[in-house]
Amino acid sequence: MAEFKLPAHSVVNKGKTFKAEGAKRVKRFVVYRWNPDDEKNPATDTYEIDLDNCGPMVLDALLKIKNEIDSTLTFRRSCREGICGSCAMNIDGKNTLACTKAIEDISGDVKVYPLPHMSVVKDLVPDLTHFYAQYASIKPWMETQSALPPDREMLQSKEDRAKLDGLYECILCACCSTSCPSYWWNSDRYLGPAVLLQAYRWIIDSRDENTGERLDNLEDPFRLYRCHTIMNCTNTCPKGLNPAKAIAEIKRMMVERR
Ligand code: SF4
Ligand code: F3S
Ligand code: FES
Repeated sequence: MAEFKLPAHSVVNKGKTFKAEGAKRVKRFVVYRWNPDDEKNPATDTYEIDLDNCGPMVLDALLKIKNEIDSTLTFRRSCREGICGSCAMNIDGKNTLACTKAIEDISGDVKVYPLPHMSVVKDLVPDLTHFYAQYASIKPWMETQSALPPDREMLQSKEDRAKLDGLYECILCACCSTSCPSYWWNSDRYLGPAVLLQAYRWIIDSRDENTGERLDNLEDPFRLYRCHTIMNCTNTCPKGLNPAKAIAEIKRMMVERR
């Protein structure tokens, strides 16, 4: 049987443990740490948190660690209410938002890692440069054919507006794309579920006039068709969206226009 080993510098070591002395309700947070400046291997540090003195969400615990225990811990966050998408990380084995993930829903130690299969900038911060470039490539804005801008609002029927439900709510957190094995192996050419859901959001918008060109840009064995209906994306989306369905709709439109 083939044996695969991580390169020596990628092995995740056991790091430091920070005790919560005197606490009655202790929860242990095992957090991935990696600092590009110290040339050490990644490690998992363990922080004991007193739940009687901490907010209810995983992000509350991470903020408590940063503010009171270890200011070097690095992660992204902004809105703390599931809107900005910046606190996406892998918690208890699933990609989700730290600010909407309740600590009490996790049994045992809380394991916190960065989003999988992305380059790490530091600790829990993934490098999203390529992800955002892919997003820009689908032209996420309204396009019209006429040279002049319209002189009034572009109206939409209630039925056409309803077609955007389940799409406009996407916060581009990247939880879905980084859960997709096809994206893990082919992210250089496959757009992944988040960007394809966004592509469909503009394809299906009745006010956009470049539907044909948008479909042409996706008619490619890698950009679209590397989706093999694995469904991790829909299973993990913290906003309850269905990127797999959006991708299936694009594939259906490809067939129907032939
Ligand atoms: Fe995040 Fe869901 Fe949008 Fe994917 S579809 S980027 S998981 S909000
Ligand atoms: Fe990946 Fe979702 Fe397709 S997990 S393969 S994008 S259905
Ligand atoms: Fe904004 Fe979590 S901090 S989504």
